[in-house]
Amino acid sequence: MLHTVALDPSHKRALFSCQEQSLTDYLRKQVGQDIKRKVTLCFVLADANGTIQGYYTFSAYSIDRAILPEKLKKKMAYKNLPVTLLGRLARDSQFKGQGIGELLLADALKRANHASSEIASFAVVTDPINENAKRFYESFGFINLESGRMFITMDTIKASFGLQIKLNSAPERLIDLFGGNLLNNCSRRSLWRR
Ligand SMILES: CC(C)(COP(=O)(O)OP(=O)(O)OC[C@H]1O[C@@H](n2cnc3c(N)ncnc32)[C@H](O)[C@@H]1OP(=O)(O)O)[C@@H](O)C(=O)NCCC(=O)NCCS
Repeated sequence: MLHTVALDPSHKRALFSCQEQSLTDYLRKQVGQDIKRKVTLCFVLADANGTIQGYYTFSAYSIDRAILPEKLKKKMAYKNLPVTLLGRLARDSQFKGQGIGELLLADALKRANHASSEIASFAVVTDPINENAKRFYESFGFINLESGRMFITMDTIKASFGLQIKLNSAPERLIDLFGGNLLNNCSRRSLWRR
């Protein structure tokens, strides 16, 4: 059974390889330090042998209200707004075409939504590494910010997972993510059907 867990020493980081060298190197060489210094958390999709199929990282972050779309900007009372930074997300090249990227993203969004019930965060923000990554996020409803970053609001995520989401249970197993909820607000429905 596939499931995401926090990265630990049993995971074979040195064997991970994706299309973006910087994201391969980050997992192999840097993430351990960042976790130790409490500047990031890393979640991996791995099999029983510790082979990492994909990973993503999360950190607390804030954005300036000024870069938001006009409609949203008007609603926000503060200059600096709390968000969750999806810093990196990558799938190992040998698992291409298996929907791993989609599973990772769904898992990340559910985890972010869950965490926002403990510490407020109004959106998930990401920094697409290139045009391909941008198109990937756009296809799941992420919106472009003036800064080149992209975001999706927690309200959209909540609505997308629907009422069945259980805010008091951590998304340990991917199968729990796809309990038949249909996507309401995002552009892609398949995210929730698996
Ligand atoms: C981006 C990435 C995570 C996508 O992972 P993946 O496993 O190929 O994605 P999936 O197979 O789950 O694809 C899910 C859907 O997104 C679509 N998709 C994937 N990459 C896409 C892209 N670059 N542009 C548009 N759509 C894309 C797929 O076509 C698929 O849709 P479909 O089911 O209608 O065919 C992967 O290509 C990767 O690791 N790239 C290198 C690192 C990277 O760019 N990370 C992202 C930003 S930091």
